[in-house]
This record gives sequence, structure tokens and C-alpha cells, in this order.
Amino acid sequence: MTTATAQALLMQLLDPAHRADPYPLYTAIRERGPLQLPDNNLTVFSSYADCDEVLRHPAACSDRLKSTVAQRAIAQGAAPRPFGPPGFLFLDPPDHTRLRRLVSKAFVPKVVKALEPDIAGLVDTLLGEAASPFDAISGLAYPLPVAVICRLLGVPVEDEPEFRAASALLAQSLDPFLTITGAAGDGAEERLQAGLWLRDYLRELIARRRREPHEDLMSALIGVEESGDVLTEDEIVATCNLLLVAGHETTVNLIANAILALLRHPDQWAALAADPGRAAVVIEETLRHDPPVQLIGRIAGEDMTIGGVRIPRGDNMLLLLAAAHRDPVAVERPDDFDPDRPSIRHLGFGKGPHFCIGAPLARLEATVALTALTARFPGATLAADPGYKPNVTLRGMTELPITL
Ligand code: HEM
Repeated sequence: MTTATAQALLMQLLDPAHRADPYPLYTAIRERGPLQLPDNNLTVFSSYADCDEVLRHPAACSDRLKSTVAQRAIAQGAAPRPFGPPGFLFLDPPDHTRLRRLVSKAFVPKVVKALEPDIAGLVDTLLGEAASPFDAISGLAYPLPVAVICRLLGVPVEDEPEFRAASALLAQSLDPFLTITGAAGDGAEERLQAGLWLRDYLRELIARRRREPHEDLMSALIGVEESGDVLTEDEIVATCNLLLVAGHETTVNLIANAILALLRHPDQWAALAADPGRAAVVIEETLRHDPPVQLIGRIAGEDMTIGGVRIPRGDNMLLLLAAAHRDPVAVERPDDFDPDRPSIRHLGFGKGPHFCIGAPLARLEATVALTALTARFPGATLAADPGYKPNVTLRGMTELPITL
């Protein structure tokens, strides 16, 4: 395949016409094997085996500054880290190892478990206000995760609207598709301002919690210590920022994608309404069948060979998780939404050293939301096809109308 053909195929992912159902396009891409765009220093993987191998490869890096493309931009005067030090999602060992270990000491299962009554209360309030037709995005999937992260960090309720607005803007900074393909220009200034506002806000909150610790993750992050090592203020800010950005739209998309799949399979909706214990398999199958994070990025830290292709050091790699999850070599009947399949394998929370630290929280939120919604409205139906945002990576709906 020529480079031009590979580029044209990849750019089709940006076409809004594919957003509602990008899966035929993912299949077309996967069937061609790894796509290489040497002029863009980019290789795109889409089979399950290749994505899995990259995620486990010790030379696959997450620090974007290691890429040839970033180095070229810096040489031309671009600011390397406009938001200050990045969250550990974008760091490699030893910094990643150290920060992840310290944060994991504060973000323990007990902290997640303690949020359960809050989550149940929030869902109850949201569904208590629901009237038919009900938009499951603005009425449930969108407001829940940001409210939960605010509770987790200890952000006062009155500050939630501003927090929510900043989060919506910053979500795009996670999108490797936009940064790598150079389509990220729009809204850069707005994102920068939102990032600066959030940094100042978090600094102020840290100062308050230092004076007066609460039972929240922010206070735990301030207090965490291992062998004399602690988190600096900049590191706490970057971590909270990361938790907000990584934990918001991802969870919105999980809840919304699961609701849509259930509505399109009324027998599954009814089964969950009757047996809340089915939530776990519904959620795992949604993460596979329609993953909230459609792709992730890596950089080759050294020359690598994956899937029979050579990737020069410094090249970017895009891993199309959503394509990998429909790979017939790895999954039987991959296009079917079937929570009862014998085993559900997916990379929806990543794999290896960067495996999602918020997975237990996301699963808990989705469990509470889906079981409450189906139990309260066992006969709900899809009122109209949903609308989609333009985002490729955090592909998500703008509205999901339901007849209750
Ligand atoms: C359904 C919801 C979620 C999905 C699908 C999801 C997905 C992912 C994925 C794919 C990664 C790995 C990225 C990579 O390897 O480059 C990741 C990492 C991460 N996620 Fe999540 N996430 C979700 C919810 C959350 C929540 C609720 C939080 C926290 C409040 C969170 C915090 C993080 C953090 C901090 C990392 C970085 C881990 C590291 O680099 O070591 N995520 N997530």
C-alpha cells in the first residue's frame, strides 16, 4: 500500500460521517495490517496481537517529548511542556514508577469503596429528576463522573460547574490522534487557559487541605510518603489534573456506550433490570465492543520490530484499541454485543505499566448507574439515534434520547 493510501485511510477516521459507526473503517484498516507513514514518523497498529505486544514492550514509551515529531517542534521553538510537568500517564520509568507507586498508596480500594454511597446518592438524585424523553448524556452519564471526581478530590460542590467546564476543554489534550496528526490546532488557546485556571485552583485547594486535612484523596496525596519520598506540589497538581481529565469523559463514554448497547438489545436491558449481578459482564463487554478510549499512543524508545514492521526510534505509534477488540483472530463473533460470551478479553483500560489506575472507580460508577437506570425503567426504549462529538480518541455521544 502506498503512503498516500495509508494516510487517506487514516484520515477517514477524522470524518464525522464515521463517528456513529467507525467499526467498518477499523476493519478496513486492520485488514491492511500495520500502516506506516514514514513522512509523519508514524506507525498505526490495529490487530489485537500487535497492540498487545506494543503495550507489553519495554521500549514502548509514553513521554511525548521522546518523539521525533515533538523534538522537531521544540527545535522550531514550541514550548515543550506548556502545562508544567505532565501527569504520570505521559512519563516513563523511573519517574512514572515512582509517581504511580506514591499515588497508588493514596488511591487505594478503600477510597473507592467509600465513594459508593455518594455515587448511589448522585445517581438517585439524577434519576429522580428524569422525565421522558430522557437524555441519558446530560441527565446521567455526563454529570455523574465529574461530580464523583470532585467528591474524590474534595472539590467543594459550589466549584463543580467551573471544574466541569475546564475538564471538557482539557479532555482533548489526551487525544494522541489530534496531536500526532497535527489536527489539534483548534482551541489550543482555550485549552491552555483552562489548564492554567485548573492549576491555580488546585494549588489553592492544596493550600487549604495542608492547613486543614479532610477525608479526601487530595489530603491523602499531600500526606503520602514512602521511604522519606513525598509528592511535590507540582506533582500533586499534575496528578489531580490527570485524574480529572483521565477519569471524566472516559467514564461518561463507558456509561453511555453501555446504555446504548443495552437499548439496542432489549433482552439484555430486561436481564439486567431483573438481575443487577449482570452489570459486571455488561460493562466488560461494552469496554470490548465499543471502548470509551478508542486508541492510545506510544513512542518507540529504540528501534523496534512489531507485527513484521520496523519502527525507527522516536517514531509515534497509534494503537487502535477499538479495531483490535473486533479482531476475528482474537475474538469470536467480534461484532456481536454478547455479555454472555465465555470470556471477555479487552485492552479498554490499557495493559502493562500504565494500566488504568481508575478502573475500579469507573466500574463502580458504571455498575451503580446501569443497575439503577434499568431497575427504575425496565421498559425503556431508544427514542432516536444518538448524536456524536467529533472526538476520535474519546469518541462519545452528545445526546442519547430514551423513552422511559
Ligand atoms: C471507563 C472509564 C475509563 C477508561 C476506559 C480508562 C482508560 C484508560 C486507559 C486506556 C489507560 C491507559 C493509557 C495508556 O496506556 O496510554 C488509562 C490510564 C489511566 N487512567 Fe483511566 N480510564 C477510565 C477511567 C479512569 C478514572 C475514573 C480515573 C481516575 C479517577 C482514571 C485514571 C487513569 C490514570 C491516572 C491513568 C494513568 C496510569 C498510568 O499511566 O500509570 N481512569 N485509563
